[in-house]
Amino acid sequence: MKKLNIALIGFGTAGRGFYEAWQQLGTARFNIHGVAVKNGEKKRNGLHLEATTDVLSLINDPAVDVVVEATGNVKDAKIWYEATIKNRQLFVTANKQLVAQLSGFGNQNLLYEASCGGALPIVRLLETCFPHGVSSIRGVLNGSTNYILTRIFVDGFSFNDGLLIAKEAGFVEADERLDLDGGDPATKLRILCRHAFGIRLLADDVAVFPLLGFNDVDVKFIRRNKLAVRYIATAALDEGKIVARVAPELVAEEHPFAKVLNEENAVSIIDKGGESYFFKAKGAGKQPTGTALFNDLEAWSQGFRYKKRKLAKAKSSPEISEVIVRTAVDFRDQLTAETIESWIEGGFRFYRLRCYLHELAHIAVVKSGEACVFVVGKEVSRQRFKPESVLSIEY
Ligand SMILES: NC(=O)c1ccc[n+]([C@@H]2O[C@H](COP(=O)([O-])OP(=O)(O)OC[C@H]3O[C@@H](n4cnc5c(N)ncnc54)[C@H](OP(=O)(O)O)[C@@H]3O)[C@@H](O)[C@H]2O)c1
Repeated sequence: MKKLNIALIGFGTAGRGFYEAWQQLGTARFNIHGVAVKNGEKKRNGLHLEATTDVLSLINDPAVDVVVEATGNVKDAKIWYEATIKNRQLFVTANKQLVAQLSGFGNQNLLYEASCGGALPIVRLLETCFPHGVSSIRGVLNGSTNYILTRIFVDGFSFNDGLLIAKEAGFVEADERLDLDGGDPATKLRILCRHAFGIRLLADDVAVFPLLGFNDVDVKFIRRNKLAVRYIATAALDEGKIVARVAPELVAEEHPFAKVLNEENAVSIIDKGGESYFFKAKGAGKQPTGTALFNDLEAWSQGFRYKKRKLAKAKSSPEISEVIVRTAVDFRDQLTAETIESWIEGGFRFYRLRCYLHELAHIAVVKSGEACVFVVGKEVSRQRFKPESVLSIEY
């Protein structure tokens, strides 16, 4: 049988991971026909051919059957993707921003498992394992923030030291705001909602609470209450409407999400029949990402395609939830909220509120990270958050 010819675009963490997965698993069935990169001068250890910088010429080479895109460049990747449609080639990508922007769904030449959840085959699971549909999906979808939270709550580091260690280990962007603003898990959640519910969510449909303002006062508060915090993306169908959010969430220490460590990602799903499922795998790094890209290629060559379906526009439902807000600024007059209690700790005021999450997410101090919001997980909602010292308590 003829080997399929691959054009690999990008030879950084994900691209090299794909190349190594191919070396280990795929040389009998696939051939790397060419590799394209940005900087033609860079030395690439272990690469068996010379990389080109002329990406489009490589893609338009009639010998190429499959394009594997692992660059992270959105503008150029759109042009490359369009070329593969014209050339009738498969396009496999790890590029979540690109995927979230593509409006077509079920395009038969497109697979993108590596864009959501690293090695977790969550898109394929949603496509194949829930014939009656899904009613909710919740996930730790960002390995970088989970790595930071693990250093803090498992190893006992302060927030700043946890962040520093995560940076040194290569899990955090040079500008950490890009990892802490919640944009990454929100984009992944929007992609997963297409497969879970057949619904297209716009960025504004997701209530996003950043981890930007997280600090040592929060760490102390969470430890003292014997809780764990995980950065969880949630989407659930509620009478045909969807509620979607990304938030630091307080969970019990024995909760399965609290056991998701380091760069791991995890997803919990409840199907339409009420059965629940939990999946966990490494969410970032060379090998998990490379394997996810390679597995798409294998799945496609065995006949797997995303289902063709027309996506419905999201009808959002306002979600009311219990939250803890730690802030130096009282903004309650901007909210339709019920204050359950409030206290002072470490120089900050803590509020325990019930409120509309979308409303709270749009308040400037929350968006900018001047206030940190924690959604109270369902199983801990009856727990009382005791103030450290009774300086001031409002009920
Ligand atoms: N790293 C992870 O753990 C991970 C996990 C999941 C998904 N992803 C996704 O994988 C993609 C790549 O991430 P990465 O971490 O591998 O990035 P990276 O290490 O920075 O590597 C990017 C590669 O793409 C090349 N490149 C960039 N722009 C290009 C262009 N216009 N034309 C040709 N080549 C170009 C770069 O070339 P030079 O080498 O010449 O600079 C480099 O080889 C992103 O979409 C990312 O979101 C990454």
